[in-house]
Amino acid sequence: VVTVVGARPQFIKAAPVHRVLRRRAEEIIVHTGQHYDPRLSKVFFEELNIPQPDYHLGVGSKSHGAQTGEMLQKVEEVLEKVRPDLLLVYGDTNSTLAGALAAAKMHIPIAHVEAGLRSFNRRMPEEINRVLTDHLSRWLFCPTRTAVQNLEREGISKGVHLTGDVMLDAVLYNRKLAEERSRILEQLDLKPREFLLITLHRAENTDDPRRMRSIVAALNELSVPAVFPMHPRTRNRLKQMELSLSNPLVQVIEPVGYLDMLRLEANAKKILTDSGGVQKEAFFLQVPVITMRDETEWVETVEQGANRLTGADKTAILEAVERFEVDFTRISSVFGDGRAAERIVDHLMRDSEL
Ligand code: UD1
Ligand code: UDP
Repeated sequence: VVTVVGARPQFIKAAPVHRVLRRRAEEIIVHTGQHYDPRLSKVFFEELNIPQPDYHLGVGSKSHGAQTGEMLQKVEEVLEKVRPDLLLVYGDTNSTLAGALAAAKMHIPIAHVEAGLRSFNRRMPEEINRVLTDHLSRWLFCPTRTAVQNLEREGISKGVHLTGDVMLDAVLYNRKLAEERSRILEQLDLKPREFLLITLHRAENTDDPRRMRSIVAALNELSVPAVFPMHPRTRNRLKQMELSLSNPLVQVIEPVGYLDMLRLEANAKKILTDSGGVQKEAFFLQVPVITMRDETEWVETVEQGANRLTGADKTAILEAVERFEVDFTRISSVFGDGRAAERIVDHLMRDSEL
């Protein structure tokens, strides 16, 4: 199996699958280099016990076309050499699409983990990446029923499997470890349930000055302590837009590793985010989440009342911080049982040449 990864959430998703797969097949890991800062890449390989990539393509940050194009060319070179039985990709980044496209043209079957997600917003680069990857894949591993239905609507039913979400596997496996090993609350002087956790990095927010101004204005008016591990994209855009987070209650820190992140999430009073993964982790860890987007792929979290969509609207964000509460006793699991990785590997072993 050749696995192509490149960005932070993909390392986290690949870890549980790798743990199962390594017992049953040979896995070659290809890192595109989309994320290269040690805090967005190396730390996850170390904490999650993922072996060093067999190939590091070193592509780095570029425009969509240049980045995806260079990855496509370099993944193809690896596939020519390795000639795998199948290619495994995760999620919806440019690394996902480049991996899938390279394999498809070489008639190498593709397995897509986190298939069928849709925001129905084609202005998001992630939406383009997901739709195309799904339509190229032989195995479509869906985390939720909604994802299966989304694929049905696009005429895809062959190769579709409802497996549950590998990010739940990762949370269940690492949650206790995070409480034991992470010292982040002590380091930042945070008390459980007395702080907000903030993440923000989606292009639809960071690349739109109107939305960024509005979100920053909301964060500057927060009256509770907050911690904000800031993605480099956001740091760069704030600088370019000459916006500053001037609220002394908001601690802006570098991106944190997975165990620190889980401990922050599990102990936060509420979470404000535009991340896909963080919305789900908040749900798994039973922390109310406020999503600063106009729509979400994780509609179940909203339907069950555990996630409030505010868009970038300052008043809506502040109102949710103040008032949004969740009764987690009424919420049912919709992301499987934490054994998605095993199901995925079972399907691959059964239906391939492995
Ligand atoms: C990418 C994914 C997004 C995902 C996110 C996870 C695409 C189109 N987007 O967004 O879906 O949610 O990863 O975090 O694939 N940068 C650094 N250091 C790094 C990497 C990036 O400083 O190690 C900066 C660069 O200025 C770069 C910017 O961040 O231009 C954006 O990086 P890029 O990989 O293009 O997209 P992300 O915003 O990280
Ligand atoms: N994450 C992390 N440290 C951080 C921010 C996020 O470990 O400082 C983890 C988070 O717990 C989740 C994943 O990164 O598992 C989500 O990735 P991200 O928000 O970058 O991308 P998205 O899910 O939106 O594609």
